[in-house]
Amino acid sequence: MKKPWAGRFTEKTSKSVEDFTESISFDKKLWKYDIEGSIAHAKMLSKQGIISKRDSGRIVRGLKDIWTEIEEGRFRFREELEDIHMNIEAALIKKVGDAGGMLHTARSRNDQVALDLRLYVRASVEEIIGLLRRLETVLADLADGTLGIVMPGYTHTQRAQPVLLAHHVMAYAQMFRRDRMRFGDALKRINVLPLGSCALAGTGLPIDRQYVASLLKFDSVSDNSMDSVSDRDFALEFLSCAAVLMMHVSRMAEEMVLWSSEEFGFVEIADAFATGSSIMPQKKNPDVAELMRGKTGRVYGNLMSLLTVMKGLPMTYNRDMQEDKEPLFDTADTLRAVLSILPEMLKNMTFDAARLRQSSDAAFSTATDIAEYLVNKGLPFRTAHEITGKIVRFCLDNGKQLHDLDLESYRLFSPKIEKDVFDVISSSASVNAKKSYGGTSPTAVKAQIKRFRNSLK
Ligand code: ARG
Repeated sequence: MKKPWAGRFTEKTSKSVEDFTESISFDKKLWKYDIEGSIAHAKMLSKQGIISKRDSGRIVRGLKDIWTEIEEGRFRFREELEDIHMNIEAALIKKVGDAGGMLHTARSRNDQVALDLRLYVRASVEEIIGLLRRLETVLADLADGTLGIVMPGYTHTQRAQPVLLAHHVMAYAQMFRRDRMRFGDALKRINVLPLGSCALAGTGLPIDRQYVASLLKFDSVSDNSMDSVSDRDFALEFLSCAAVLMMHVSRMAEEMVLWSSEEFGFVEIADAFATGSSIMPQKKNPDVAELMRGKTGRVYGNLMSLLTVMKGLPMTYNRDMQEDKEPLFDTADTLRAVLSILPEMLKNMTFDAARLRQSSDAAFSTATDIAEYLVNKGLPFRTAHEITGKIVRFCLDNGKQLHDLDLESYRLFSPKIEKDVFDVISSSASVNAKKSYGGTSPTAVKAQIKRFRNSLK
């Protein structure tokens, strides 16, 4: 098949070059956006009197037929036509003849591919924002349902202070909220029309870029034709938002893996969301969480990949940029898969409330509360810290927990201690006391969930 650019060539392209340079095997994914963009372009060309209404009508009908053929799997993608743009254009010319040859007026594949990609990234971001919104709702529901459960909060993976499980869950909800906001912010820079920049310099023909922007629902039109065809910042921004999001997913997955281990025993993952071992009959493995953690690797890699492709490119379009697609597609597919299964997984976990409480009661995790108690009795915090440290040392040396000591033993460390000390050393008391804004008391957490839900609306 003759290539649209073959005019100045006298020899055929070698097969190995065709194999090496083709992108149709993966950029066929852009077909819908390519057709949408071409329809808008054809309408603009006729509105501006650059082509006739009649030809524009033929082009639009031809493109709609091609749409149906692709949708129904009847379209034959040809490697020798390199990419999605030339495949569709060649099919159009075959269908509608000379009119089809007018479509590429005042356009280059350079601004065309930038357009297709922006439409693809925009649609992906909108879908991901929807999935994140759903995840936020599921987490807020989970928090509401676990308000009564106290657990150890950790620093350095060492038990630190008791917290509500709901507070821990809401910490993730806040992360995913920020991720959604970050994608939303990126959308402002993604949603800019590059079409009409042509190869790099713009065109002498009287095009109307604002009109194309309004047809394709872009908020604005790019200001510099050279920048527009060489810019992939919007793709990089998408990939970096995705990398931060996957970092959050991975941290949560890591906790699910740890918490479902026998050593922690905090949570049981439902059978439907776990897998077994081919050799060890007793095993129930958290593979879904592990794979979510593992898939973070490819999403980081995709960001690095495109950053590296772009770093040495002189202005403007360079064929290197064809390497932008696979990392983008892979990241969008991965996010879609992860964000679809994660809420399901969360809804299929059972927390062991008794085990969580026992674990938070057992590790001197209310020691800070004793220090705060002594502060309330008038001691400087440093002195209170020292005294409480000595109490912990005494317990450790004698195999006791804080609630095992009687008042007399406590008073050996400070005469300021009275029997109301027993009101502060339980993990529930500790949690209830944390009424500061954003703290872990049930009142503060309920208020947090309420604010969170309000801004979800
Ligand atoms: N397949 C190419 C890409 O993905 C389309 C643009 C090609 N432009 C060019 N002048 N060779 O980047």
